[in-house]
Amino acid sequence: MEVIIQPTYAQLVAVSAEIIRGALLKKPNLVLGLATGSTPIGLYEALARMHKTEGLDFSAVTTFNLDEYVGIPRSHPYSYHTFMETHFFNAVNIPAENRHIPQSTAVEHEEFCELYEAAIVNAGGIDIQVLGIGKDGHIGFNEPSSSLGSRTRIKTLTQGTLEANAPHFGGTVDAVPKMAITMGVGTIMEAKQCLLLANGESKAEAIAHAVEGPITAEVPASVLQMHPRTVVIIDEEAASQLKRVAYYKQVYANKQKLLSGGYYDKS
Ligand code: GLP
Repeated sequence: MEVIIQPTYAQLVAVSAEIIRGALLKKPNLVLGLATGSTPIGLYEALARMHKTEGLDFSAVTTFNLDEYVGIPRSHPYSYHTFMETHFFNAVNIPAENRHIPQSTAVEHEEFCELYEAAIVNAGGIDIQVLGIGKDGHIGFNEPSSSLGSRTRIKTLTQGTLEANAPHFGGTVDAVPKMAITMGVGTIMEAKQCLLLANGESKAEAIAHAVEGPITAEVPASVLQMHPRTVVIIDEEAASQLKRVAYYKQVYANKQKLLSGGYYDKS
């Protein structure tokens, strides 16, 4: 796992946006896996700025969102459909037909989940999957105890997740949808690269378990230790419970030096 620790959220955002920008310049028909939550909002804003100021082109990009609540209409102010429109899609030129978000109102859920998986495969697989992390170590809506091989399916949300999301639903846990459709852990693991973003002290424990703890379904994000190309991009606060902070910083500094040619004998 590559762990990049940045002093601030703004710098974390800049590093992650630069990774996506670089990938998009190399592959205009990039397939992006997208996450919701407060964490990636700055990343979406940065990419939208690049689109506006330097013409970064998303016209051939395809996107797949991780998850969506079950039982609320897409037009609900806190549906992930609305979230994506507001924070990203309205500000870049990804064709509407290239954007995929699990359907919150699909009646034939099982069939829908299979079609969602098939659409990812048809698009050539996800090149970069953006991930946030729940305080209990969930990714997407794969709550603790999710199979590490799971595929897109319906999950029941834990009490902790319902409470974390209550502010979006008028402050009451009762109003929060109890289930969600989410890509599985196995689906996420098939992305060619994963970018796990986290900021703030409230994520420090989850990050420590995910990065340095045992691989366990109790902390679904810990399975990313088995992924060949996961980059964990966090701020100092989210890194505050990690044991190897100094080492991760050394690794990153060395990599920058290597990339800039600093290690080569120029004589
Ligand atoms: C929800 C989403 C996750 C997200 C998590 C953390 O559970 N399904 O994809 O990572 O919230 O959200 P935040 O970034 O707001 O802390």
